[in-house]
Amino acid sequence: MSSSIISGKELAKKTRLELKDSVTEFTSSTDITPHLTVILVGDNPASLSYIKGKQKGCKEVGISSDLIHLQEDTTEEKLLSIIEQLNNNKKVHGILVQLPLPTHIDEDQVINKISTLKDVDGFHPKNVGKMMIGQKTLLPCTPAGIIKLIKEAGEEISGKHAVIVGRSNIVGKPVAQLLLQENATVTICHSRTKDLKMMTKQADILVAAVGKANYITADMIKDGAVVIDVGVNRLENNKLCGDVEFNSAADVAKAITPVPGGVGPMTITMLLVNTLEAAKMIHN
Ligand code: GUN
Repeated sequence: MSSSIISGKELAKKTRLELKDSVTEFTSSTDITPHLTVILVGDNPASLSYIKGKQKGCKEVGISSDLIHLQEDTTEEKLLSIIEQLNNNKKVHGILVQLPLPTHIDEDQVINKISTLKDVDGFHPKNVGKMMIGQKTLLPCTPAGIIKLIKEAGEEISGKHAVIVGRSNIVGKPVAQLLLQENATVTICHSRTKDLKMMTKQADILVAAVGKANYITADMIKDGAVVIDVGVNRLENNKLCGDVEFNSAADVAKAITPVPGGVGPMTITMLLVNTLEAAKMIHN
């Protein structure tokens, strides 16, 4: 079987065009420009590159943004007080603290401090709780982007067996929940799963979020599966590759996302969607 490529790049472009219109409409009716503040502690090169993409995305759709760039040795107390100020700042609608943080700062404390209304990452435990029980809230960006990719590719989720490889709080667990809400039957696999291939072979929808280059090979994929590759791994030659061995997997899968140009552009797009949603929630 020769598979179709699910282009996150194309869907992101289309979604951002629609979003730009929605932002214009919101701004002209309220006189409010949605605003995202990003906080970076330290100089992690990967984080700097992600942040550049987020700021470029904001500009593209008419969302204003700023970056608070703090030194690596910033104290947790200082960071929490900056978040407190942003929580109280009416001009700021979204707050994103880029992860990972330096080890002397407790990530959980920081995420807990962000106002639930401004939590555009969807990481606050209260928002995670709302998502778990299907209440409307700000959804985590990568999982929300994955659902949109599958739907826009015209693939049915309801009744399908979705197998997720990886159980992180950012991707594996929330995407499992969102797929369940779309009426998939869901299995989560992880490093202690006994027979991974036996599990992945059963997947109508396979989501790979392990963080290991080319970990999922064609022999682990069911004929005609929809394969979503969340991995972003850098090879020794500096090339990016996913968790799925793309070329061989593409012979087996019905549809597959590439890396780069698959899930990544949708993650940033959903952040922009969330920032507009946050501005609307705060305004109302
Ligand atoms: N670092 C890697 N991915 C993410 C993300 O989605 N949000 C934040 N805040 N930091 C990240």
